[in-house]
Amino acid sequence: MSNKRGRIPLKARKVSFSWDGTPLHWVPGDPFATHTMNVLHLLLPAGERWFVHVYRQVLPYIRDERLREDVIGFIGQEAMHSQAHDEVLPHLKEQGLDPTPYTAQVDWFFEKLLGDRTLPPGRARRWWLMERVALIAAIEHYTAFLGDWILNAEELDRRGADPTMLDLLRWHGAEEVEHRSVAFDLFTHLDGGYRRRVRTWATAFAALVFLFQRGTRFFMENDPTLVDGKASFRDFYVRGRRGTLPATGDLLKSVPRYLSRSYHPSQEGSTEQAAAYLATSPAALAAEAAESEGAGVPSARVEKGAV
Ligand SMILES: [Fe+2]
Ligand SMILES: [Fe+2]
Repeated sequence: MSNKRGRIPLKARKVSFSWDGTPLHWVPGDPFATHTMNVLHLLLPAGERWFVHVYRQVLPYIRDERLREDVIGFIGQEAMHSQAHDEVLPHLKEQGLDPTPYTAQVDWFFEKLLGDRTLPPGRARRWWLMERVALIAAIEHYTAFLGDWILNAEELDRRGADPTMLDLLRWHGAEEVEHRSVAFDLFTHLDGGYRRRVRTWATAFAALVFLFQRGTRFFMENDPTLVDGKASFRDFYVRGRRGTLPATGDLLKSVPRYLSRSYHPSQEGSTEQAAAYLATSPAALAAEAAESEGAGVPSARVEKGAV
């Protein structure tokens, strides 16, 4: 990636997962933590497809060849993330959690509200494109935050969380850490205006909080095994203290970092840790083996204690 600390060529790993043995509450005994993380499967298929859609339009404006290569690598990785999370949805449906009412709203949000608008070519169209480029940079601050968190969330292993789901989240999280500078570098290259950075951060942050709390409530209320499933901020706060969800304090502390004028994503997370995880991830290894043999990717099912 084109950050100040060297560059890693970004490649998409064509992973595949088998969900047959993953229980409904894949964080054992904790539906709230399970469903909060399950919201990622609702948001990311449409959200990351939208990243790809916007970035394809941006490619002709990039005047730096290295950045252009990074953006192409980023597009490949995000397209794969979107697909991998999408493939969890039939499994949720089989377990009695039909995500369609929620994903229909998320699709509308990304495809219509944040989609291409009928604008005249020129300034208005470029303004809307730059606004979305800045929004993606702000969202990528949080995907990198979450990627760094999941790579270090040892409490989930201690509590016996499903290893295949952990591998999906950590493979994705590691690639988020790996490409964490691309969206911000692209925004800086094309615009970089500080007022736009603040404005789009506020929009992205509010939208993420809104979509997450709504998605968690949706799952808790529709979970067929829960009699009166509820979700509250206190539930989130408690899991954060426990280490099974991100800590509220850490989330709040990430805000001024993004808004600092000296911010650069290379200051967040660890590329070495991300690379180390990708070198041992069962799904990434299966993808690599299949690629070198020129075969299709077998669906990875990770047994407990294997990672
Ligand atoms: Fe992603
Ligand atoms: Fe990303």
